[in-house]
Amino acid sequence: MSDKILEVRNLYFRYKDEFVLEDISFSLNREEFFGIIGPNGSGKSTLLKLIVGILKPTDGEIRIYTDKISYIPQRIASLYHLFPATVEEIVGLGRLSDGIIRRFTNKDKELIEQALELVGLKEFKNRKIGELSGGQQQRVHIARAIVSNPDLLILDEPTTGVDVVNQAKFYELLGHLNKDMHITIIIVSHDISGVASEVSMMAYLDKRLHFIGKPKDFFKKILWPIEIEDLLRG
Ligand SMILES: Nc1ncnc2c1ncn2[C@@H]1O[C@H](COP(=O)(O)OP(=O)(O)OP(=O)(O)O)[C@@H](O)[C@H]1O
Ligand SMILES: [Mg+2]
Repeated sequence: MSDKILEVRNLYFRYKDEFVLEDISFSLNREEFFGIIGPNGSGKSTLLKLIVGILKPTDGEIRIYTDKISYIPQRIASLYHLFPATVEEIVGLGRLSDGIIRRFTNKDKELIEQALELVGLKEFKNRKIGELSGGQQQRVHIARAIVSNPDLLILDEPTTGVDVVNQAKFYELLGHLNKDMHITIIIVSHDISGVASEVSMMAYLDKRLHFIGKPKDFFKKILWPIEIEDLLRG
């Protein structure tokens, strides 16, 4: 339980002249459920891109002790109207970890079916993804991640545009993946209460890491949650 899956040490990053991340250090144990909050432009998506290796640190280092990572980027759903694929085909992409297109085996089909069942979308299997609601599309991505059998699932604002009831269900689903399927989760979200109710560890990022620890300590340290909500609205 206590072995590390991720270590970030003295990380700095800039796209141009100005640093967007400064002196970030933390480590994450396996099976942790880690929530990152922070205002717009505070470097959250940048940090995730550094963790998955899309960007390289300007300085410092990131060590990651698994190669079974599944990453769901921010605003992924906005491209779907251009995309004729069905729900089953999108979920099936999670089986093509080597990037080579091939026919699905019976095992693939079984895993796809199970994942769709888990996220409650079995009956949508043959629907075009562009015809689903935003919240349903997010669950398609979770299903795609599940079939790739990750150790580490990284989600960037997955509940944007999802209503409160479905957000709660979504966090429950992530809680299940974390506790019962032993998947380590890193989630970026603006939804402080949703994050705080499910995660085992949380961070407040604004260029630097201003807080990292247990959710209850975050609320102890910051006496007025209303102020945080204001901060997050940026
Ligand atoms: N490709 C890029 N080139 C230059 N600057 C960028 C690029 N991507 C992001 N930035 C800048 O880096 C900073 C951090 O951006 P980032 O997307 O990490 O913020 P964020 O915390 O994810 O914000 P949000 O809550 O709006 O998603 C911002 O000032 C942003 O304008
Ligand atoms: Mg972002």
